Amino acid sequence: MITSGKMQPGTRLKPTRELALDLGISRNTVSISYEKLHAEGLLETRRGSGTFVAHINNSLKLLETESDTQRMPSSRGQRALNSTIGFIADSELPLTPGLPALDQFPFDIWARLSSRFWRSEPKELLPYGDPGGYFPLRKAISTYLAAARGVFCDPTQVLIVAGSQAGIDTTARVLLDPGDSVWVEDPGYISGRNALSSSGAKIIPIPVDSGGLDTITGELISGNAKLAMVTPSHHYPLGSTQTLSRRNAILRWADNADAWILEDDYDGEFRYLGDPVSSLHTLDTIGRVIYLGTFSKILAPALRIGYLVVPKDLINAFVAARVVCDRHVAIETQAILCSFIDGGYLASHVRKLKEIYNSRRIALANELRKINYLVDVVDHGAGLHFIANLKKNVSDVKVSQFALSYGINTPALSTYAISRKDLNGLVIGFANTPESDAPWIIDKLKLAIHDAINS
Ligand SMILES: Cc1ncc(COP(=O)(O)O)c(C=O)c1O
Repeated sequence: MITSGKMQPGTRLKPTRELALDLGISRNTVSISYEKLHAEGLLETRRGSGTFVAHINNSLKLLETESDTQRMPSSRGQRALNSTIGFIADSELPLTPGLPALDQFPFDIWARLSSRFWRSEPKELLPYGDPGGYFPLRKAISTYLAAARGVFCDPTQVLIVAGSQAGIDTTARVLLDPGDSVWVEDPGYISGRNALSSSGAKIIPIPVDSGGLDTITGELISGNAKLAMVTPSHHYPLGSTQTLSRRNAILRWADNADAWILEDDYDGEFRYLGDPVSSLHTLDTIGRVIYLGTFSKILAPALRIGYLVVPKDLINAFVAARVVCDRHVAIETQAILCSFIDGGYLASHVRKLKEIYNSRRIALANELRKINYLVDVVDHGAGLHFIANLKKNVSDVKVSQFALSYGINTPALSTYAISRKDLNGLVIGFANTPESDAPWIIDKLKLAIHDAINS
């Protein structure tokens, strides 16, 4: 009923005791069923108020409900289908990695800027716009990047896209042919590699350790790859920073192999410990790095806005790819974001978020350290997440499923791996979890770990 849409997201389920009585079955059977549906992401619990139908991804619902009526897509369509099986849209559950502080979205300012935009009756902006993006926004981003990330570029090199995901897809369209080999980090960002594999690229997993992606191993495994997709400032999900020698080595490799590097700098603004880490793009003197940024971690993922910074001699090809794909991102979002940056709101919002994320990081890490007989916190003091490795001989997938049954979404580290078998931990997203919630969340997590051990 949930997957067919007969039970709508947000619908409250009967308490287990009541449903058991209604159906004349044991309460235990009902509880186990609820737990299974939790583990599959179909239900969510809200503390103190009960069990509800989760907000699951609509396309997944469609696939599940009407699979017998679906026709065979092209092989490209089939690859996309295969790579997103089991995909569930980000939930708002505590600890969900990747989510920014949704309670801190600048609603008032955004509403004011939006209203100002429409009241100015911008008729000239209503025809099809520039496929590279609204030029004043591209200018604002290039200025912001120089100050915030040491990325120096001409505004014409900045292309506005619908989030990192669209940036990765566009890069694949421009730089890859089916069958081309691509280095991806192992473990690594699943949605990113799905975009690459959907384009027909051959995914080559390259191990990551505390010094980031190991370039030498990459060259040994597949020296003639066409592209490397990396998160050098703050690896996703391990959190490590790529060492300077490995950064230089990957740039040298790209130059020698006539290959490209896609630098996903998704949370580069947020570093709480140690010196700021500059981008790989800063070191690139040969025009091999395509830099990718997003507003998903600063504002909200649902705005769907991010940007690519492309080498000058690739601008035309990238703009052409934007034209054939979706022409451009909605002008409204671009124009409001532009006023947000030009009005100085972005800089102050990032400053404020840094403090908030840092307090949330510390609160969760401190609570986790109270159960250090169960977990080992590996926190590099950056971004929106850290790792809690499991100390006991218990599967991270099982712990994650039990955690979901308590209404907590901490994905298993091993599920981000491609060929690695040595990972057993939890990815802890802290940015959207207020400090005051940390104690009860970690209490539930402790229960989940014990449940998994005893199961
Ligand atoms: C590694 C990585 N890159 C990029 C993103 C952001 O994706 P998007 O800009 O498509 O929302 C995320 C979000 O979780 C991420 O984890």
